[in-house]
Amino acid sequence: MCGIVGILGNQSVTSIIMEALRRLEYRGYDSAGIAVLNNGVLSRRRAAGKLDNLAKLLKMDPINGNLGIGHTRWATHGAPTENNAHPHMTDRVAVVHNGIIENHIALRKELTELGQEFKSETDSETIVQLVDYYLKQGHKHQEAAFMALKRLEGAYAIAMIFTSNDNLMIGARHGAPLVVGFGDNEMFLGSDSLAIAPLTTKVAYMADGIWTVIKREGAFFYDMEGKEVSCPIQKTALITGTIGKNGYRHYMEKELHEHPIVIGQTLRRFVNPATHQINLPYLPFKITALKRGIITACGSAYYAGYIGRYWLEEYARLPIDIDIASEMRYRDPPIEGEGMGLVISQSGETADTLAALRNLKKNNQKIISILNNEHSTIARESDVVLGTDAGVEIAVASTKAFTAQLTVLACLTLTIAKVKHKITAEHRDQCLSALLDLPSRVAEVLQLKEKIQEIAKFIANAQSVIYLGRGIMYPVAMEGALKLKEISYIHADAYAAGEMKHGPIALIDHTVPIISVIPSGFLFEKTLSNLQEAKARGGHIIVFTDQRGAESLSPIADKVIILPTVHSFVSPILYTVPVQMLAYEAAITKGTDVDQPRNLAKSVTVE
Ligand code: M6R
Repeated sequence: MCGIVGILGNQSVTSIIMEALRRLEYRGYDSAGIAVLNNGVLSRRRAAGKLDNLAKLLKMDPINGNLGIGHTRWATHGAPTENNAHPHMTDRVAVVHNGIIENHIALRKELTELGQEFKSETDSETIVQLVDYYLKQGHKHQEAAFMALKRLEGAYAIAMIFTSNDNLMIGARHGAPLVVGFGDNEMFLGSDSLAIAPLTTKVAYMADGIWTVIKREGAFFYDMEGKEVSCPIQKTALITGTIGKNGYRHYMEKELHEHPIVIGQTLRRFVNPATHQINLPYLPFKITALKRGIITACGSAYYAGYIGRYWLEEYARLPIDIDIASEMRYRDPPIEGEGMGLVISQSGETADTLAALRNLKKNNQKIISILNNEHSTIARESDVVLGTDAGVEIAVASTKAFTAQLTVLACLTLTIAKVKHKITAEHRDQCLSALLDLPSRVAEVLQLKEKIQEIAKFIANAQSVIYLGRGIMYPVAMEGALKLKEISYIHADAYAAGEMKHGPIALIDHTVPIISVIPSGFLFEKTLSNLQEAKARGGHIIVFTDQRGAESLSPIADKVIILPTVHSFVSPILYTVPVQMLAYEAAITKGTDVDQPRNLAKSVTVE
């Protein structure tokens, strides 16, 4: 969840590290820090809160050096204070860490008894104290680092630099991502390739359980036995400058406006619009023999999977089991034979999703992953990756990555449905035409901003909001509720509309807005009845529907937002857009920190 960066350069690296940290701030923003080596001496600056606080501090009290490491923190062990901020450091060594050292209590006790003085409450400080202890015992830098790494249990990505050694940086990876960048007589380390993208196009994605000795001349990789291993260098795209907001107030607003282009790009990757041919990469199983699928993911990606479940069951007649990854990782379901394990993740680094993937693999499932980061750990451990072309998503609340995931799931559904002969050519054609038409329809939804702002003003005062959907619109309701909670801090829950009468209806009074995603068609009348039941109990009803739906809903709904009429196959994608917009506008009304909401991080690499 934290972001780390290291640079072994030829000029002062402070400002370059700060720029890299800006690109990593999505990973955590509880505190930030930087340490550099200058004339053989380590100096450090740290600040609680956002990176801007560190930038101000560095302006007042600069540090410079050609070798340095930096960190943005999402706090796990120890409050988000300056004292707990990374880098952690002694007179001999400085370390930045992403992950959790699980045996930190035992190590802290042991090291304290050996005379090491801890200064923070963090698990991460055990790393620096271990190395420091071995250095004091007379071990050389590289040797002390290796000895320390072998003692660590848990998950880590680490960057380490030493006093009096301006040509050495150690990196290590175990359960948290780390990328090495190769420059011209300079070297880089980063939590992801985005961090170092403007600095080099040559990167090596470190495998798990590998550590690296980095010098200006290059990097050497070793396993935990100390045996040298290879780590292939790959070419990435060079991204210059910082990723900007393009005039939008927030990244989230910009990313919401990218929905049409992202859906279009993702479709272009897989669909030939002229022939209506869908070209997915080779799937690692015989589709005709496929008996079932299991879907797993976290947060919004899970809701995308939930929609995928409805599609695959209805259109491809494929039985699907689905569970959130933090549960799936520990489940021991009886699974007969090889099936499809479908894993969905924007970052490709979510720890729970990765562990669930491994559980499915252990149970002989072939893994298809739908990922926005095709260089991620999940990508490497999957049998096939279906990439979403969402581009970099910076706002913590996922928006465009979600609709891109749905676009891929739609293509996968139609492919399996066709091969299994579960859909007629005509029906498939209609679905595909609706998909290809979707970017334009979504662009129309983005025009509804003012109407959505009105509703946002109303719900911004609510203590609690209920979202209702039925069938395939139920996960859309869940996505709406999650987004509202995340960025406006208003309590929200989503229910399958038919379930209200079994308990949640007791929550309804005139203070609780009820938001429903209810296109005309299948289940419309059923959901309408559920809304009438809510209205009868004083509920304030807000609906997203189409022209036909509006005719029946207008008499009971307090607010009706009319969306373009689309084929039911693509309704869940279209209806996602306004509920995400509503969450954004509610957050604006409340004045919360939209892009970096409290307590959250974009990429959740801890359990
Ligand atoms: O990177 P991933 O897609 O695996 O992340 C999964 C969730 O952490 C993520 O969707 C989270 O729920 C978002 N903040 C939702 O907006």
